[in-house]
Amino acid sequence: MSHGPSANELKRRRRTAAKAVGADGVLILPAATEVIRNRDVHYPFRQHSDFYYMTGFPEPDAVAVIAPKHKDGEFVLFCRPRDPEREQWDGQRQGVDGAIANFAANQAYPLEQLDEKLTELLADRSRIYYPVGNDAKFDLAVMNWLRALRAKARAGVSAPSELILSDRVVHEQRLIKSKSEQQIMRQAAAISAAGHRRLLQKCRPGMNEQQLEALFLHACTERGARFQAYSPIVGSGHNACVLHYVDNNAVLHDGDLVLVDAGCELNGYASDITRTFPVNGRFSPAQRALYELVLVAQKSAINAVRPGNRWNAPHETALRVLTRGLLDLGFLQGDGRDLPTLLKEEKYKPYYMHRTGHWLGMDVHDVGDYKVDGKWRTFEPGMVLTVEPGLYVAPDADVPQHYRGIGIRIEDDVLVTNDGNQVLSRDAPKEIDQIERLMARTHPQPEET
Ligand code: GLY
Ligand code: MN
Ligand code: MN
Repeated sequence: MSHGPSANELKRRRRTAAKAVGADGVLILPAATEVIRNRDVHYPFRQHSDFYYMTGFPEPDAVAVIAPKHKDGEFVLFCRPRDPEREQWDGQRQGVDGAIANFAANQAYPLEQLDEKLTELLADRSRIYYPVGNDAKFDLAVMNWLRALRAKARAGVSAPSELILSDRVVHEQRLIKSKSEQQIMRQAAAISAAGHRRLLQKCRPGMNEQQLEALFLHACTERGARFQAYSPIVGSGHNACVLHYVDNNAVLHDGDLVLVDAGCELNGYASDITRTFPVNGRFSPAQRALYELVLVAQKSAINAVRPGNRWNAPHETALRVLTRGLLDLGFLQGDGRDLPTLLKEEKYKPYYMHRTGHWLGMDVHDVGDYKVDGKWRTFEPGMVLTVEPGLYVAPDADVPQHYRGIGIRIEDDVLVTNDGNQVLSRDAPKEIDQIERLMARTHPQPEET
């Protein structure tokens, strides 16, 4: 998270949150904490998305409080104090002065004052918004602040009486991406697309899945995206049928497809792209038939992304196209008239068992409700989602031999615009002739059959 959001944008987000919380409420958001990988080695630190969205503050263990209309200012940050000895080892800290000077906190305190100051900040407020149930230690801390406040009842202090999950207040904002967020996501997708193009150029039979992973990581890192939004999935042959395959250690065989689901994170925003291509640079007729079907389903689903359409429209579109295609291929029995029944009975499930997408943003499976008042939500400009249908034919499926063990997914990142959508990941080739042409340039030509 090298470049944080601008000071103005952060202020706007906090003002919107403050309005939602109201003058008798208070919002508390804890930062992420460092996690040990082994002994004294940590996993790379990743700030909590809600906390980062509201503060831009990059350090672990901090706590942000938004206390609307507080007389000393409504944005309070608790953080690790400066510590020359620790900073010699682990790098510079902002400390209390940095929190005020560089992060626009109205008040800032060292973490050791958290209990004392939080109790003061909660006094005479009626509602606490925080990530209830997310972290047992933090839940306990909130209970202790409440208990401390109740003990002051006889001094005339009143304690909050409602604990409310903070998700609504923060996630509704995060769901609609501002222009600057859209621009970062466009860049993240462009970097990942460059990574996917590199794989098309470098892939050869005999390489290992891990080598494709390494090429992808290198392409992202050298373009400024040091972290991935999730562990890359590189599945060749029937490994592509394992939806969250992350072993990435098999040899790539001539004649197989390879599915690569990989996307970098840039400045805290995810990209999430899947491409599937032939290891030897040429689709076989069976691979081509299935790939074309998934591609038509994916493009039709993308067309269903526009303001006013409901969240489920792309999924329903993909299901219709895929199920119709499975009928035509003879994977399912019946004819066109049976389509409604086959859809209702979910007969596609053995070949397509996941949903067609998810919100995308700071988290790869981003926040935001999918239903509102029991109904699928309607798309609005600024929402970003993935569209990722696939087909997965188990190695022992009851279909002609040449289809068995083929796994295909095509995944793009799609921004809802005023009049339709924009595919942020469009620089990653997905047309068969594009893929074959790009691969042919660097591959020894396979013999024509
Ligand atoms: N890469 C995770 C997903 O596609 O949802
Ligand atoms: Mn996805
Ligand atoms: Mn994905």
